[in-house]
Amino acid sequence: MAGISAVTPIGAVESAEAARLSSGIGEVDRVLGGGFVPGSIALFGGDPGIGKSTLLLQVAGRLAQAGSQVLYVTGEESVAQVRGRAERIGAVVDGLHLAATTDLETALAAIDSARPALAVVDSVQTLTSGELTGPAGSVGQVREVAARLAEIAKGGGTCIALVGHVTKEGTVAGPRTLEHLVDAVIYLEGERLGSTRLLRAAKNRFGSTDEVGVMEMRGDGLAEVADASRFFLESDETPSAGTAVTIALEGTRPLAVEIQALCAPAGYGSPRRATTGIDTNRVLMLIAVLARHAGLNLTSHDVYVNVAGGLRIDEPAADLAVAAALASSLRERPVRPATVLAGEVALSGGLRSAVRAERRMVEASRLGFERLITGPARGALRGEPGPAGLQVARDIREAIGHALEP
Ligand code: TYD
Ligand code: MG
Repeated sequence: MAGISAVTPIGAVESAEAARLSSGIGEVDRVLGGGFVPGSIALFGGDPGIGKSTLLLQVAGRLAQAGSQVLYVTGEESVAQVRGRAERIGAVVDGLHLAATTDLETALAAIDSARPALAVVDSVQTLTSGELTGPAGSVGQVREVAARLAEIAKGGGTCIALVGHVTKEGTVAGPRTLEHLVDAVIYLEGERLGSTRLLRAAKNRFGSTDEVGVMEMRGDGLAEVADASRFFLESDETPSAGTAVTIALEGTRPLAVEIQALCAPAGYGSPRRATTGIDTNRVLMLIAVLARHAGLNLTSHDVYVNVAGGLRIDEPAADLAVAAALASSLRERPVRPATVLAGEVALSGGLRSAVRAERRMVEASRLGFERLITGPARGALRGEPGPAGLQVARDIREAIGHALEP
């Protein structure tokens, strides 16, 4: 009857939610889905130099400060170097222990004897197992490192935060090598020269992958951003030509984001189209729709589109603000004051309301905007008044007419 003993009434099972271990940083907890789950392993990926070691040393310090035992295993730096960084970010605390090794078995033994609440392992690419012959960072080694760490996490209820550098191919240690071996994959992103850092979950067995954390790299480590929804607005001044604001929905959090466009007369040859923070093909599509359906011809203009603050926007609801920024730059007329735009543009020039337009309008009002221009909601009841401030346009021509200063 061995199999039967594994059957438990659901009411008698302890919920993983109850046991979450707060990272001590709200933005990290948000992307984790409420904190670390004991016995789980989370991979923190990102480009070299983006701030992974800094972030996890901060987390380690906060947890230790809150009374937990934390072990930081470093395979990249000496303990003296880690101590130096810890001084800078205020993480020299009792309860935080360091171990410098590149040997997986040594790291596992350290975790096994300390049984910390959290073990940070920095990084998966620097540890090697003596049981394999491949070099550090090879697919075989990184898989072995992640698998053995996952095993020890589950066995002892320790949370493991594993650091991984993103490779040239753009994923941690090659496509999909590690993602299925860990419970969560969190990416730390940002422009190297800018100070904004975004945390995004690419996988999360214990939470949503829609949430985004926003942080800022400062001289004393990564700081939480006080009012994230306002953070991506370049300025509070009256808008200049070529900028339009949208309310993006990242997860459950609305963010006001400024879209900047520049349309400049092109030289000879085909005009340039360059974008940062938004899909270039989407912008090409909007350029074509503006030409065909709004009488705005950009064929002899170079076009640059930039999402302010280093954010990357993927949702179609950003279309309308991009189109308005382009129109504003070409016509040299600013967007009307206190106006934001959110709606999807169709190839026909028609518009569709942004999903959860009301939620976006609420946030827009909170930030001092008075109107949100959007498209008609699908299946909306005719004649039913929308929330105050929502201005519905049927097509792109009408929306741009509403948006730009006369
Ligand atoms: P690091 O955490 O070492 O990056 P990773 O582990 O992802 O490779 O971060 C390195 C960069 O962060 C480095 O360019 C210096 C900068 N930094 C700050 O700006 N402020 C700080 O307080 C710290 C510790 C680092
Ligand atoms: Mg590092």
